[in-house]
Amino acid sequence: DMETSLRPKRLTEYIGQEKVKEKMNIFIQAAKERNETLDHLLLYGPPGLGKTTLANIIANEMGVKIRITSGPAVEKPGDLAAILTGLNHGDVLFIDEIHRLNRNIEEILYPAMEDYVIDIIVGKGPGAKSIRLELPPFTLIGATTRAGLLTSPLRDRFGIINRLEIYNKEQLTQIILRSAQILDVPMDQGGAMEMAGRSRGTPRIANRLLKRVRDYAQIRSDGTIDKETAKMALDLLEVDEIGLDEVDRKMLTSIMVKFSGGPVGLDTLAATIDEEKTTIEDVYEPYLLQLGFLKRTPRGRVATRLAYQHMGIAMDSEAISFF
Ligand code: ADE
Repeated sequence: DMETSLRPKRLTEYIGQEKVKEKMNIFIQAAKERNETLDHLLLYGPPGLGKTTLANIIANEMGVKIRITSGPAVEKPGDLAAILTGLNHGDVLFIDEIHRLNRNIEEILYPAMEDYVIDIIVGKGPGAKSIRLELPPFTLIGATTRAGLLTSPLRDRFGIINRLEIYNKEQLTQIILRSAQILDVPMDQGGAMEMAGRSRGTPRIANRLLKRVRDYAQIRSDGTIDKETAKMALDLLEVDEIGLDEVDRKMLTSIMVKFSGGPVGLDTLAATIDEEKTTIEDVYEPYLLQLGFLKRTPRGRVATRLAYQHMGIAMDSEAISFF
């Protein structure tokens, strides 16, 4: 499908995350030169920034196979045991949303990561025995939206911890131009920049918008995505000039109007706009914090002057006195 065809296969094709790339290049080369497996790696950061893509690239660069699963998909200890014993020497095991692994399953990972062994209990009651199984050396790549949600014994077993950052407009422009080229969609620099500014720092969103803008250009124009076409298409999709959608706007207006600019606690905010707390924290807040529209204080979330300006709402006296 389109999502996989757009994914870069090599580190050199991967745009942005320069620090991560530089470090991983060194660690991969060093491990390969010593004929060792790569150390276990934790990738964390907001959704859509390329954690799965990076895991695939790393396996590819190491010349090994990748087995992909996710925290919620591993339901029983036996599920994880089956996956681990099915790995070949050097393989990458990718666990997405690793913070959602059950604690009793997570405990199987500790000796697996540390000593490449698992202890399985055979039988029940007084006759139950623990059998130790050897595993091939492997690399665990864990991905999570927030490293803070990991237990410390799990976090401590990763030799490499990388945080993925929200992309800047130049990087997103490059990604969008690359995607357009792969999909054979005519686009100019202005069109790519317009889309980049509205993709909230996230390649997944940029690529999703590209599909819709392509549709728009095909039906309402000559198929080419230029600045004007991108603008009109994205206005129609109600993605504003800086990429805010309905939920972002609802959240900001709610803080400004209902709570006089804040501070408002996460629980209250979530109930008011009818969104999950984790969705607010993982999906909406990172970009608003990055824009400087939102601040987190010990007493809750606060809308900043910039947010008022963007939303065209006057700051009342209470909000002004906060700053
Ligand atoms: N597609 C999605 N993310 C990408 C990235 N970081 N570099 C290149 N293409 C991408």
